[in-house]
This record gives sequence, C-alpha cells and structure tokens, in this order.
Amino acid sequence: MTKKPWGGRFAKETDASVEAFTASVHFDRRLAPFDIDGSIAHCRMLARQNIISAADADKIVRGLRAIGREIANGTFPFRPEYEDIHMNIERRLIEKIGTVGGKLHTARSRNDQVALDTRLYLRHEIDTVDNLLRDLMLALVRKARDEVDVIMPGFTHLQIAQPVPFAHHLLAYCEMFARDRERLSDCARRVNRMPLGSGALSGTSFEIDRRYVAEALGFQAVTQNSMDAVSDRDYLIEFLAAASLIMMHLSRFCEELILWTSEPFSFVEIGDAYCTGSSIMPQKKNPDVPELIRGKTGRVYGHLMALLTTLKGLPLAYNRDLQEDKEPLFDAVDTLKGSLTVFTGMLQGLTVRAEQMEAVAAKGFSTATDFADYLVRKGLPFRRAHEVTGAVVRFCIESGRDLPTVRLDEFQGFHPDIDEDVYEVIDPRRSVSARNIPGGTAPSRVRRRLREMERSLTRPSREKRTAKPKGR
Ligand code: ARG
Repeated sequence: MTKKPWGGRFAKETDASVEAFTASVHFDRRLAPFDIDGSIAHCRMLARQNIISAADADKIVRGLRAIGREIANGTFPFRPEYEDIHMNIERRLIEKIGTVGGKLHTARSRNDQVALDTRLYLRHEIDTVDNLLRDLMLALVRKARDEVDVIMPGFTHLQIAQPVPFAHHLLAYCEMFARDRERLSDCARRVNRMPLGSGALSGTSFEIDRRYVAEALGFQAVTQNSMDAVSDRDYLIEFLAAASLIMMHLSRFCEELILWTSEPFSFVEIGDAYCTGSSIMPQKKNPDVPELIRGKTGRVYGHLMALLTTLKGLPLAYNRDLQEDKEPLFDAVDTLKGSLTVFTGMLQGLTVRAEQMEAVAAKGFSTATDFADYLVRKGLPFRRAHEVTGAVVRFCIESGRDLPTVRLDEFQGFHPDIDEDVYEVIDPRRSVSARNIPGGTAPSRVRRRLREMERSLTRPSREKRTAKPKGR
C-alpha cells in the first residue's frame, strides 16, 4: 500500500473499496495542463514573496514542466491511490526532485486548487465552443447567401402559413447562436476570477500576492470571499445552462432537417458522408446525425439538473460532493463540441431542393393573408377582409383549386372591388417582398441582415479572454 500524502494522522490504511470509490484521477486528469499552469504561477509567487527560495522555486518549476511533458507524451504514471490529479502531480514532483517538491503546496489547499483548475479549463473550453459557434454561423451565412433567392413555406403549428425566404429561416438560427455567444461571453466574465489564496476555506496566514497569480494566469480579478470561492460552482451551472440552450437550438434545427429530408417534404438532402444506412432496408438513407444531436440534448440538460441538485443542500464551504461537478461538465463540453462540429459539416454538405420548396410555398393558401391585406387596402375592415378571404379559401377547397386558378369573375363574386391586380398580390414572391420592414422577409432586408451578420462574424474579436499564462 502506498502512503497517502495526508496519511499522518491515520493508523490504518484506506480500504480498497474506498480508494476506488473516492478516486477521481481517471477523469480529472483532464485538468492536468491547467493544474501545472496554476502550480507554476503559485510557485513563482511564493518565491517572489520570499516564502520559498528562488532556487527551490526553479527546481519545482523545472519539475512541473517535466511532468507536463510526461503527461503530454503519455508516460505519466497516473495512480488511483493518490486520488486525484492534484495529488498525483504533487507525488510525482516529489519523486522526481525530492522533498523540496513538498514546498509547492505551501499556502494552498486542494480546495482552492481544484477551483482554480476548473476555472482555467472552462475558460479555455468556452473559447473553443465560441469558435465552433462562429464557424457554424459562418456556414449558415454562406448557405443563406448561396440560396438567397429560394422561397420556402413558413410554418406555424407545422401547417403551411406564409412564404418566407429560405435565407431568412437560416438567419433565424444565426440570431439564436448569436445570443448563445453573448451568454457564453457573459458567463466567461464570472469564470475569469482567480480563487487561489482561499486555502481550504479561510484563506492563508502567509503573505501571498493573489494579484500576481491572477495576472500571471490572465484572470481579470481575484475572488473576494474565501468561503464562497471554494464552494462556488455557479459558473459551471451558468455554463451548463448556456450549453443546454445551444443544444436546444441545435436540436430544433435537427428536428427540421429530419422533417425536411423525409420523402413527403423533400426540401433538402443531407450529404452521403453525414448519413447512415439501414441494416435491413437497402433503400434507406437515414438522418442519424441530426437524430443523435437531438438525442444528446437531453443528456446535456441532465448534466445541468445534476449539478443544480448536487449543490442545493451543501453547507459552506467545501464538501466532497463537489467532486461530482467534473464528469457532467466534461461530458457536456464533449457533447457540445462534438455536436457543433458535426452539425457544421452536415450543413455545408446540404443540398437544397429549391423547386420543391417553392412549389410547396405556393400551396396551402400561403398567400391568403396577402389577399386579406389587399381587401383592407380596398377599404374593408380587417375582420371583414378575413371573413371574405376565408370564404374564398373554402370555395377553393371545395372545388379542389388553388388561389391563383380562381378567375377574376369568381373573385368578384366574393367582393366587387377585387381587380386584376389581385393576382400579383397572391404570388408568393410578391408576398415575401411586401414585408419590407426591419426583421421582415423582403429580399433587401434579408440581404442587409446577411451582410451585418457576416461583418460581425469576420470582425476580429475585441477582448482576448485567454491570455497566455506567463512562466510556461
Ligand atoms: N478531487 C477533489 C475535487 O474534485 C479535490 C479537492 C479535494 N479536497 C478535499 N479536501 N478532499 O473536489
């Protein structure tokens, strides 16, 4: 049995089942590079403050860098008996450089250390997710530009409602993902506070320099209450909430793609590289990718709920329950990144069946509202216009016809003021162009929004969140 770093006050060894039960190194090893960055900054600070000697600090930093290389090239011996990544690295350091390695943990606890590592990790991943969202939005903008003249049926209640430009539909998702990016950047502001120095819960009696560590690691500020800092996981919950919204948006889009690729719709075709076949039905080409993204959405919601529930009954300050924050976080990050990446690829290879979309857009009396608006312009109150239009639609349904096939004399039977110009009004393309207001479907409005979106996406970002940590 290996001696525990905390073994001093124990007379008996840990039961093997407890060792296995409490260990987290098989998942928190993911924090290793951040743990090393944090330790190097802490160690440099200890030397600057004359808490340890400069020579000792150099040895420790060299040792930590060597460990970083071991981890990167896969030769680091991860040992579950040392519980977590923090103690694994510390033990290895002492193994490599001797007892001087034991000075690293001066003025620090694993409680503030793990909070630091998780914040560094999440800050990094938020940047990655943000970039993936940007790539996805750019792909949407490009697809919208390629198909900018295509008209499709817009739906409410999944019934044909009014014609809309396909580009407008794609841009609706751009708006959602733009809000998602705002949420991530807001969350990142609160992630970006430096907790080290909070110790186990009450700070430390050593004269440390928290600002120096914060600056070295690119943090915007230090946390202000040691008890809060070691037990706060709000930033993870905020991230999981933002991640849930992103997945929800992806899932809605996936649901539409699944509908659109089915035979009765046939609006789009997903590229072969992003579809799978059936083991029994040779003709099948299934939209498994959007189905899986839709399915994985529930998983991310679950992680949000899991963490909220873990936190709800915890007294201050640190409790071991908090170790349960990592697997949900890591899985949410992986699921989100995987879904975004594959979705963008799928979108780029999407074939749009413009004629089919436009044919359906002309069906289902999609321009009935335009017809009613036409009557309003002739002087009818809207309610009366609605009634007359309803009667025309019923007449069409009963005689198995569509609005454009109604003859002028037939129209005039419903209202004498109807003229030849009615046929322009009930044309889907005219209907789309007529909605020339901000946020509307007119081609000039859609093109303008497209340009604005593209500009906002290709503009270099103002703030750089992840400053490169010093001293690596
Ligand atoms: N592995 C622990 C976690 O993830 C690190 C902190 C442990 N602290 C403690 N006092 N047991 O939360």
